[in-house]
Amino acid sequence: MIYKNLAVNQAGHLTFAGHDTTALAQQYGTPLMVMDEAVIRSRCREYKQAMEAYLPAGSQPLYASKALSLKRIYEIMREENMGVDVVSAGELYTAVRAGFPMENAYFHGNSKTDADIRFAMENGIGYFVCDSMDELTAINAEAARRGARQKVLLRLTPGIDPHTHEKINTGRIDCKFGAAIETGQAEELILHALSLEYIDLRGYHCHIGSQIFDHAPFCDAAILMLEFMAQIKEKHGFSAPVLNLGGGMGVPYTEADGSIDYAANIRNIGKLISETCQRLKLDPPAILMEPGRSIVADAGMTLYHVTTVKQIPGFKNYAAVDGGMADNPRFALYQAAYTVLPASRMNDARDFVCTIAGCCCESGDLIQEDVALPKPNRGDLLAVLTTGAYNYSMASNYNRIPRPPVVMLGADGPYVAVRRETLADLVGYDR
Ligand code: LLP
Repeated sequence: MIYKNLAVNQAGHLTFAGHDTTALAQQYGTPLMVMDEAVIRSRCREYKQAMEAYLPAGSQPLYASKALSLKRIYEIMREENMGVDVVSAGELYTAVRAGFPMENAYFHGNSKTDADIRFAMENGIGYFVCDSMDELTAINAEAARRGARQKVLLRLTPGIDPHTHEKINTGRIDCKFGAAIETGQAEELILHALSLEYIDLRGYHCHIGSQIFDHAPFCDAAILMLEFMAQIKEKHGFSAPVLNLGGGMGVPYTEADGSIDYAANIRNIGKLISETCQRLKLDPPAILMEPGRSIVADAGMTLYHVTTVKQIPGFKNYAAVDGGMADNPRFALYQAAYTVLPASRMNDARDFVCTIAGCCCESGDLIQEDVALPKPNRGDLLAVLTTGAYNYSMASNYNRIPRPPVVMLGADGPYVAVRRETLADLVGYDR
């Protein structure tokens, strides 16, 4: 099976981290998001150990919490000594409420308001990853008002195309993020930062994209950034102590994706960084990385019950489930691939090819096409794997559908990290 924590028990049911998925579905209801806490923790440790072993002193991973932002996740990150990347006042507040040490939090985003900036400083944010001149000026003004210098990294766009999905490619020159090196705007932003009394410029950030399996695009970005850092040092005498290479390491969603060795990728990137720094006579900066997907994606799965089976002779078959684009919009948005398993009938022959449809009122609400299953019956349980990242965090109440709970499978058994929304929650904001 695609992941080590999956198995089939004697009843022919799929087990996840040793738990019978049909029992979980019965206890917590469906749709249900379940997460294997051990996978999250071991991935944090893998990043942390590899970054400490292979990258310059002071290097560390920051969990990109846009992938999944819940209080429990920030508690786990605190326990694992991870930094975090937050992108909104909401993520920041969730981290604060979880008791996360905010000096190790980095505030991202291309469109921070004055209120966001003030809120972040009030809560002791460690670093801003500053995206523009406008933001830099606003951070300086708020820091001046408070009478304390603010640590800042500047987001730069190195213009690398990692050959990934267009909609999630955020490292190109013409994208909305950061200042481009090629146009001279990165240099202008740096000079402006250095001129501001309340800005403590600590380094640079770049993010080249998501779902990247190979180390080569990260190496390309690192070389480009280090060469630029050497130029800035030579021209302006400023040597930055930190380089943040962003997130983006891939996760296999299907067998066709192959596997990825995060530690080996980090070792390769580290080797190249030390060679490049030697060549450029640059003091090696501490390296930050911001994995999001690769920390939580394969720790999660979603369980659904089949509600309806529809055969359209000569065309196609549908199996509709009790969730859909409201809890997982990624097929509708990106035609994202997922592995779907017949959780309650794992030993039956999978000879019925069908499209898994969601319950929302629009035809694009699909979870996956061309899935081979035993011909489903109403009430069968399906497991959609690898839903830990960008599912719950992108879920909505479209069609007034309550969001599912997030149940963690922890060392001491399952527990509810976020409860299921109720119908009453849905009208809770209405007058
Ligand atoms: N750092 C920055 C600045 C980012 O923009 C992102 C993701 C990350 C880190 C984390 O990247 P990861 O390690 O998760 O690939 N909603 C899309 C993904 C959008 C990613 C946006 N930025 C999806 O569902 O595939």
